[in-house]
Amino acid sequence: MTRKLYIKTYGCQMNVYDSARMADVLAPLGYTLSDEPDDADLILLNTCHIREKAAEKVYSELGRMRHIQDAKAANGGRTLLAVAGCVAQAEGEEILERAPQVDVVVGPQTYHRLPELIAKAERSRPGRGILDTDFPVEDKFDHLPEERQPQGPSAYLSVQEGCDKFCTFCVVPYTRGAEFSRPVNTVLAEARGLVASGSQEIVLLGQNVSAYHGEGPDGREWGLGRLIRELAEIEGVQRIRYTTSHPKDMDDELLTAHRDVPQLMPFLHLPVQSGSDRVLKAMNRGHTADHYRRIVERVRELRPDIAMASDFIVGHPGETAEDHAESLRLIADVGFAHNYAFKYSPRPGTPAAMNTEEAVPEAVKTERLHGLQQLLGEQGHAFNHRTVGMRLPVLFDGHGKRPGQLIGRSPYMQPVHVDAPDRLIGRMVEVDITEAHPNSLRGRVATSTWDGASAHGVHGAGPPNSLEERAAV
Ligand code: 5AD
Ligand code: SF4
Repeated sequence: MTRKLYIKTYGCQMNVYDSARMADVLAPLGYTLSDEPDDADLILLNTCHIREKAAEKVYSELGRMRHIQDAKAANGGRTLLAVAGCVAQAEGEEILERAPQVDVVVGPQTYHRLPELIAKAERSRPGRGILDTDFPVEDKFDHLPEERQPQGPSAYLSVQEGCDKFCTFCVVPYTRGAEFSRPVNTVLAEARGLVASGSQEIVLLGQNVSAYHGEGPDGREWGLGRLIRELAEIEGVQRIRYTTSHPKDMDDELLTAHRDVPQLMPFLHLPVQSGSDRVLKAMNRGHTADHYRRIVERVRELRPDIAMASDFIVGHPGETAEDHAESLRLIADVGFAHNYAFKYSPRPGTPAAMNTEEAVPEAVKTERLHGLQQLLGEQGHAFNHRTVGMRLPVLFDGHGKRPGQLIGRSPYMQPVHVDAPDRLIGRMVEVDITEAHPNSLRGRVATSTWDGASAHGVHGAGPPNSLEERAAV
């Protein structure tokens, strides 16, 4: 029997990965993915708890889903509704109270049990929601199907979960639990499967991916740098990325991989959160702003063209105008290619949320956010401008907004729009960059690679290889 499954994913790439794995878990039960919730047999919301706004979205979405469930029930059918992810983990009981039409609440560590949970829900009457938000002793990854459904040109692969760093503002250590790294062999096996089903780019994921320390085939712990080197040996792995990292874990093996591994893309998302040592200390980050500057300097020595991205929080309790100015200074010193800045949002149960005396007023947060976004936006646009006139390999992974247009990513993570035929989707193609926009590029398929998409240089083109080429950005 085939049944339709609609999944809506909020938040980070880890959730995107988890959603794909939930689809894998449910496939043997006959569930196939659908783009629309209206005629789904099972609706799954995979939620995010990182900021208040993200968490609140779930409840409004549950309201909308209720109408769909009611319409189906009026016709004698039933739509099961499941809530997964970090809001499920943090507020499972509350969800069942506020939204009794929810049939299953499942946390990020137990979704391999979805088949049993769904079967149970099917047998019980609506309004009797089932909650499973344990942190089980058994390893979720051991219970997920080995086979993954094809993921397209770029595939996420979770290698590490959880966090032991306890930054004072962050819910992750509570919702995702302690740090855990998957063994090297299982990661490589999953990567081989992804390549066999057509993926060319592997994005290694973890809340703290740079803290990866999985058991290697030699019985020793391997760091992320070593894992990346091994991954690069798999035939067909044309691009490797990883996200998100922490400045404390950026060891030499990882940094030098940016010089040594041609498939490792010249893009580093390394959150710093603030440029003020005082705020970094209050955040329990365990590093200074200068430490961050030194890492950037080192990685740029190793890979001069690397595009940097970071996360910034404005308005952490106690942040003064001078602290904010230091964040702007750090941004000016480093120069970022992408823009991720957030207003501090107090999260229940975190230490920073208890510090209400030093809370920064909302209007001040808004003003500081604009200041940061303006500078980061200018830097991002300037970075994009510097790639105009370059020939870059672009991995096309879908259609652009306009008819006849494809979209792909440059090595630096910039979205690139190009007029090109559909058959180039899933291909790595050399593109001449013609225009820069604040958040994207436009380009033209390079003529030398245009005649016959299977010709040399179209499929399998790598990133710029010589240092001079890299330095040209
Ligand atoms: N408020 C605002 N931003 C937050 N982040 C994490 N917790 C909070 C919070 N309470 C941001 C951090 C992190 C990114 C994923 O989200 O910048 O790196
Ligand atoms: Fe949260 Fe800090 Fe851990 Fe990142 S390192 S997940 S910000 S606690």
